[in-house]
Amino acid sequence: MQDMPYVVSAKRFSVLPRRGTGWAVRMGRVLLWVCTLGLTLPAIAAMPPGEKVARGSNCFSCHAVGHTVVGPAFVAVAQRFAHQPGAQAVLVHAVKFGHVGTWGKIPMPPHPDLTEQQLNEVVSWVLSIRSGAKPAVAAGVKTYHYTVNGQAVTLDFPVFRTGTKKVTPTVFRGYELFNSYCFRCHGEDATGSEYAPDLRQSVLNGMTEAQMTQIAMEGRKAKGMPAWAGFFSPHDLKAIYEYVAGRAHHLVGQGDPPE
Ligand code: HEC
Ligand code: HEC
Repeated sequence: MQDMPYVVSAKRFSVLPRRGTGWAVRMGRVLLWVCTLGLTLPAIAAMPPGEKVARGSNCFSCHAVGHTVVGPAFVAVAQRFAHQPGAQAVLVHAVKFGHVGTWGKIPMPPHPDLTEQQLNEVVSWVLSIRSGAKPAVAAGVKTYHYTVNGQAVTLDFPVFRTGTKKVTPTVFRGYELFNSYCFRCHGEDATGSEYAPDLRQSVLNGMTEAQMTQIAMEGRKAKGMPAWAGFFSPHDLKAIYEYVAGRAHHLVGQGDPPE
């Protein structure tokens, strides 16, 4: 997996028409394109370039797509600026130099490390987010429904074997892999540590399987996150994602999950 197919499809994504086509239509076209090439990756693997910038920078430590974290939900930013002329330039400026006062008293720090192109891509992406968009579960994908403490949880993979409280072999494998390779930095049972973020929180903030896989494959060497490409198969990383997501939604407890 040297030439990341995600990157290829993300580039393709950027040349698709941006206006007049909904997320689902664009996703569908990317899927079509991916299928044409015979790639076996899910449609979800296509990440808009701006989202890639956001994932590669620190945006998701303060923002989520659908809800307020430290900063406003990206969907709220998109709604607020939807009909404002020059919104793109205003927001590029805000992200580049930092901003305070529009949403509250907490300041957003400046991002001097991002290029003009990256700033424009990330802001275009934020502005393109529409409410009700649920990129984590694409249309037509089989879903699994669980209830945890009275709350409904919908996932695009099963956590348990049908009709039992035993986790699937994939989730169990994810538990084993996580607690062999990732726990040193990301905490035992995915609880986070002082060395690396709590990946349960990343999932709750909207990180999809494709996104986690991409980051895990590429690593962020400058920040101490190793690259795992060549070490893990995509199936291994899917297992890790499913385990972490199961932990995030309180479906999988600490320690050995029932197998
Ligand atoms: C340390 C926390 C933090 C980080 C990191 C952060 N933001 Fe923010 N962001 C905020 C806060 C707080 C606000 C609200 C600022 C205000 O009230 O004007 C905000 C506001 C925004 C806005 C709206 C600005 C406006 O004028 O209304 C955009 C767009 C935005 N952030 C994008 C990003 C992007 C893109 C990144 C990553 C490159 C990022 N943020 C990283 C905290 C953060
Ligand atoms: C040697 C320490 C170390 C190990 C081992 C490690 N990571 Fe990381 N990881 C980090 C650090 C540090 C970061 C934060 C990087 C940053 O600030 O951008 C990180 C970030 C991440 C992120 C991005 C989280 C986010 O919200 O942006 C993912 C996904 C991730 N790691 C997955 C994994 C997986 C999966 C494994 C096991 C296969 C793993 N990591 C093992 C150190 C590690």
